[in-house]
Amino acid sequence: MSDQPLQPPVDQLAAATLSDVAVVPKHEFSDRVPIRSILGRPDGGSGLAGQRARVGGWVKTGRKQGSGSFAFLELNDGSCPMNLQVIVDSAVADLGLLVPTGTCVAVEGVLKAPPEGTKQKIELRVEEVVHVGPVDPAKYPLPKTKLTLEFLRDVVHLRPKTNTISAVARIRNALAYATHTFFQKHGFLYIHTPIITTSDCEGAGEMFQVTTLINEAEKVEKELIKNPPPSEEDIEAAKLLVKEKGEAVAQLKSAKASKADITASVAELTKAKEKLSKLEERFKLKPGIPQKDGKIDYERDFFARQAFLTVSGQLQVETFACSVSSVYTFGPTFRAEHSHTSRHLAEFWMVEPEIAFADLKDDMNCAEAYVKFLCKWLLDDCLDDMEFMAKNFDKTCIDRLRMVASTPFERISYTEAVDLLVEAVNGGKQFENKVEWGIDLASEHERYLTEVKFQKPVIVYNYPKGIKAFYMRLNDDSKTVAAMDVLVPKVGELIGGSQREERYEVIRDRILEMELPLEPYEWYLDLRRYGTVKHCGFGLGFERMILFATGIDNIRDVIPFPRYPGRADL
Ligand code: 4AD
Ligand code: MG
Repeated sequence: MSDQPLQPPVDQLAAATLSDVAVVPKHEFSDRVPIRSILGRPDGGSGLAGQRARVGGWVKTGRKQGSGSFAFLELNDGSCPMNLQVIVDSAVADLGLLVPTGTCVAVEGVLKAPPEGTKQKIELRVEEVVHVGPVDPAKYPLPKTKLTLEFLRDVVHLRPKTNTISAVARIRNALAYATHTFFQKHGFLYIHTPIITTSDCEGAGEMFQVTTLINEAEKVEKELIKNPPPSEEDIEAAKLLVKEKGEAVAQLKSAKASKADITASVAELTKAKEKLSKLEERFKLKPGIPQKDGKIDYERDFFARQAFLTVSGQLQVETFACSVSSVYTFGPTFRAEHSHTSRHLAEFWMVEPEIAFADLKDDMNCAEAYVKFLCKWLLDDCLDDMEFMAKNFDKTCIDRLRMVASTPFERISYTEAVDLLVEAVNGGKQFENKVEWGIDLASEHERYLTEVKFQKPVIVYNYPKGIKAFYMRLNDDSKTVAAMDVLVPKVGELIGGSQREERYEVIRDRILEMELPLEPYEWYLDLRRYGTVKHCGFGLGFERMILFATGIDNIRDVIPFPRYPGRADL
């Protein structure tokens, strides 16, 4: 598991020879040995006995022993779920300062094999305490007692210090790395699509608006209070002044006055005109959001039009799929849905591949291969963190990854799915939502199919056109579209995708049929006007994938900084 070389670099070897003790190679860019490169070795670190090492981390548990003559510290630096046991003598440091949970310490010493019968394979005998970042236990918000994930959401800035949130961070990181590896291996180009957009991809009207009109209006309001606008009388007086100064200039000219006098008079006239124009400008300042013809005047907004945070990078990534063929985007997406469920966030990350010269079947094959790849990656590369999840959250999570990595996904049409659900209802199964052809499958239906009926991932395809987005390819039956959702146990919908409508007239009609405005989609229609191609793609909800992998119940606990209705801390 360790990817650190077992041999110390040459300069450290030289130093080690001097003191006759080998040194564990330190991290390349910081002043310590990552705990993973000690405990993550296949021998659990025992082969390093006798070597010197400097480690840094935060105390998980600390206790004084031997009537206060020494202390055991369980040290964690986040490089792996395991803690290194560290032993400090009271002659070396003030033990009272070191033992509180949460204390940061950097210590140097010699790695030793612990006494027979202890569970550790290696421990560190400290000779020098290099750094202490103390904690007042009376004030520390994360006491040693087991804390609920719900409680931790109220201390979102400190929760990375917990075993669970740091394990989730490592799993999340591994899945991101695996995602790039998978698509790069298959020749996809990573495209950065915009966060700020002027088109609504899903046409569902769930977008957050991006505007500076509100802060501009607030600025004007404050400014007008501090510095009240001129009155009509002020304007009239300024106009009068301009008139008088104008007449003065005319008089001097007709009296053939000296050039110097005329110039001075013209200067006064210019000044009066400038003053008038400034007053008129300020006179126009009105508190509130600018309006035109009874509507908000977006021409005065930052982008001179309405703009939003993206709900999906799909439409933009299609522009590249229609030129460089296989592409993907992976970034944050935003939805102003007021859903307080355990599977929805207002800000979540989505992985969206888009493939040219490919149809719905290719799309399903890609989605299945990608999800399997992710599962296998976690089993190969993150097993220690997955074992932590199995122990603390979901006993079945590792088996589930193994099953998904090795079992072909079930593929059924929407019509077949509805038939199976109706069959279940007839057999006594109760759902809260009515089942009939045409409904959008609810989470309970999806979970029944994947968890009960098939007990493996299920891809449902060919949905009724009425419940899906305008860009999905219309099937020959004119009733369904070439959509597909990947449903997995524990989560329900993990992926939503489709073959895209590549026929200009058909997609144009679909936009109109769905009562969407054509104008914002003209550029999208151009992809059909010029060099159109059969293509498809999907979006995987990255947090849903983490829920599925870890078995954690709430999506708010698998993203570092959750955003949901009423909450956006930090
Ligand atoms: O099914 P959706 O809405 O599909 C799209 O956005 C397409 N444009 C994707 C594409 O074809 N390129 O969303 C895709 C996935 C869902 O299956 C779900 O996993 C996740 O995104 N998702 C959410 N995850 C967390 N919170 C939310 N509010 C989510 N909404 C969708
Ligand atoms: Mg969907």
